[in-house]
Amino acid sequence: TTKSLIIPAAGSGSRMQREVPKPYLKLAGDSILEHTVRRFLSVDGLAQVVIATSQEYLDQANDMLEKVLPDTVAARCVAGGNERQDSIRNALAVLSDVDLVMIHDAVRPFVEAKHIAECCRVASEAGAAVLGVPAKDTIKRVDGRRYVEETPTRKFLWQAQTPQVFRTKVILEAFEKAEEDSFSGTDDASLVEYLGRKVRMVEGSRSNFKITYPLDLKLARLLIEKE
Ligand code: CTP
Ligand code: MG
Repeated sequence: TTKSLIIPAAGSGSRMQREVPKPYLKLAGDSILEHTVRRFLSVDGLAQVVIATSQEYLDQANDMLEKVLPDTVAARCVAGGNERQDSIRNALAVLSDVDLVMIHDAVRPFVEAKHIAECCRVASEAGAAVLGVPAKDTIKRVDGRRYVEETPTRKFLWQAQTPQVFRTKVILEAFEKAEEDSFSGTDDASLVEYLGRKVRMVEGSRSNFKITYPLDLKLARLLIEKE
């Protein structure tokens, strides 16, 4: 199976409160984005990598891909959009003719090859698969004034991570439908769910956390030194 990898890297990182956007912060000398891309180099059938990034970082992202990717993998960098979903849409617009599309946050540099492979295997079978872990904390749903409305049973709650992997036709249809209906979600699978298609959860690892807050960056720097 041929595969494209889409990496959204166009966020401003408001929760990190740094001048430089998260994907371009350094981890052991290289950008977080570069660490993340390297995790996918062993994926079998990898044909294309598309990075969505802000205008100012297009050159830097292009240079990095040229350095890191072998000649057999096509590289594209596109401008991102206001929301993550807009960034993915811009990336999907330059998609090659592949069987599977893997979408992975630029700021999850610790994803493991075996979990990427498993997610791809399940997506080939089911059409859509997301990596995740069982929720650790009890999750409460609150109203606008923070009164607790509901405590869903924890054993049915999972934290969705990336990669989220889709058969090409499925993700293209999902984005088309979402655009038509002005539906927005905070991950890609939610658009597929909105389309009415099944999405399978694949158990990954807690080390595949998203670098979001300053504490996550501290943890990332500790972990990378141990590798
Ligand atoms: N992203 C993107 N385009 C956007 C927003 C986010 O490509 N308009 C990317 C981010 O760069 C990141 C991934 O989506 O790699 C996950 O998003 P998140 O962790 O929320 O990053 P930011 O949106 O940058 O951070 P924050 O929400 O704290 O502002
Ligand atoms: Mg965000």
